[in-house]
Amino acid sequence: MSNENLTWYEKLSHAVEGKAFKFTVFTTIAILVGGLVELPPFFMVGAVERIPTVTPYAALELAGRDVYQQEGCFYCHTQVIRPFKWETDRWDRNREYGPEPYSKAGEFVYEHPFLWGSKRTGPDLAHEASLNSNPAWHKQHLMNPRETSPDSIMPAYPWLFETKLDPAKVQASMRALKSIGVPYTDADIQNAAQATQGKTEGDALIAYLLKLGRDTIVK
Ligand code: HEC
Repeated sequence: MSNENLTWYEKLSHAVEGKAFKFTVFTTIAILVGGLVELPPFFMVGAVERIPTVTPYAALELAGRDVYQQEGCFYCHTQVIRPFKWETDRWDRNREYGPEPYSKAGEFVYEHPFLWGSKRTGPDLAHEASLNSNPAWHKQHLMNPRETSPDSIMPAYPWLFETKLDPAKVQASMRALKSIGVPYTDADIQNAAQATQGKTEGDALIAYLLKLGRDTIVK
């Protein structure tokens, strides 16, 4: 194909791509400039703004968080409310979260890893403590979602209420989180054994669900 049949931008791209060395140098400069524009402002923002009422998970709640991950609840549920009116109206229907009822970075300082999720097959759970704080309802729902929500497609998890927690595992989780900055004391870790002894995975999962959004209720 002769060069005359090419459009101006095809000619330009051939001219640029034909000069491999220059092309590499100029793209590297472009990426460096882009990096300078993006990264220093990010570091200047500094640390995440803390929310004083946000506390680490108690032992049983933390065990429930591990069950939540083990069962893959995050495949269907998110835990992050975006700053759009249709979201805040839906997830703060009791008007308990003040003038800015969406999720803030400070709510997630003890989350390792984050469980924001990305798929909303089921409803968002970030404010579950406010939306439904009845442990008996949650037990019935987890045993068989069709009993509380007739057309639910959520799977049933009856075995969670037969499987006992291993307190040593919960303590190991707490020690691991402590090593990366979650402020558990040695006494917290010691008392975790008693707090989880004889409890089931289901009990722990419900304790966890009732912690979601509880710390930031302002009313
Ligand atoms: C296949 C997708 C799916 C999975 C996996 C799933 N859910 Fe659900 N979940 C749903 C759907 C859909 C609903 C809405 C209907 C209902 O209430 O059952 C729901 C509802 C809920 C609700 C009620 C929320 C509210 O405020 O009405 C809770 C709590 C919940 N799920 C917790 C869990 C937990 C905990 C797990 C993991 C053990 C889990 N879900 C796994 C799809 C799922």
